[in-house]
Amino acid sequence: MTIKPVFADAAPLSRLPDNQVLPDNQVLPDARAFLADLVSGFAGPQKSLPAKYFYDAAGSDLFEAITRQPEYYPTRTELGILDARGAEIAALLPRGAALVEFGSGSTVKVRRLLAHLPDLAAYVPVDVSETFLRSEAEALQADFPHLRIAPIAADFTRAFALPADLGEGAHAGFFPGSTIGNFEPPEAARLLESFGKVLSAGAMLIVGVDLVKDRGVLEAAYDDRAGVTAAFNRNLLARINRELSGTFELGAFAHRAVFNARASRIEMHLVSRADQTVTVASRAFAFAEGETIHTENSYKYTIDGFRALAARAGWTPVAVWTDPDALFSVHALRRA
Ligand code: TRP
Repeated sequence: MTIKPVFADAAPLSRLPDNQVLPDNQVLPDARAFLADLVSGFAGPQKSLPAKYFYDAAGSDLFEAITRQPEYYPTRTELGILDARGAEIAALLPRGAALVEFGSGSTVKVRRLLAHLPDLAAYVPVDVSETFLRSEAEALQADFPHLRIAPIAADFTRAFALPADLGEGAHAGFFPGSTIGNFEPPEAARLLESFGKVLSAGAMLIVGVDLVKDRGVLEAAYDDRAGVTAAFNRNLLARINRELSGTFELGAFAHRAVFNARASRIEMHLVSRADQTVTVASRAFAFAEGETIHTENSYKYTIDGFRALAARAGWTPVAVWTDPDALFSVHALRRA
């Protein structure tokens, strides 16, 4: 069978050609948006870059490698919870519902639920990467031949509609990986609220949320010994060099991951090792020694803290599961 992604009107795919920089620093529209984001991110006293630019082809491969590092506990811990509790979690989902995965990426995690959901109306993976969606859906179909798979190529942070023939019934959402932690809390609440609208009244939502813990464990997870997270962080600079004619010297910036306890988040930064000036698309940016570019946040919640956030977004807690060391949590929420 062939699986064709449906395109959501509200969400244009961001397709980024490999080489967007033309002679004389003429840049194509996608590169222009990247440059505009860079210029505004570098304008303030704390320079920053939007995290979405991490995920080009090289960045996505590096991220997959991060999830296999011994220090990076979230992926294997969440998988362990889903392995142990998959049947219990699946039993809470509405009968005959569609299961919508927001930012599906690989199907490794959802398989732990699908194995216990024989009467699902459909599995609806939502992802911006059309190629990835298609290959993952095909692999999944081979293993679950009776499952209806209805991929949607869309940015899950924007409104999109489910296929009309799934009906108006209550559906289920799946949002693993503690991706919720990569949003500022008010944005995270807005996102959970919009998931509720997509899934209808009575819906269930299964969310993976990383927990607050010892600073040493947290900081090691985002600064592995093998240097994979550091390479992932510096890949942003490589991408600027490639796509925006940047002159960043990758070795002149250090990777730093620090737990900001007051804000309850891991922050990733790139730290300038010297006073230096870098050019991007003919614009000059000065960096003082020790000055940083803030590249990512990963918020860490307590169980009650996350439940309070979800409640503000219209979700009632139903159940929560953790691993024996309480490193990670998987929440079941019902839409009020
Ligand atoms: N949501 C995951 C986390 O915060 C994945 C992630 C996002 C990540 N950005 C990252 C992991 C940067 C390592 C480095 O852990």
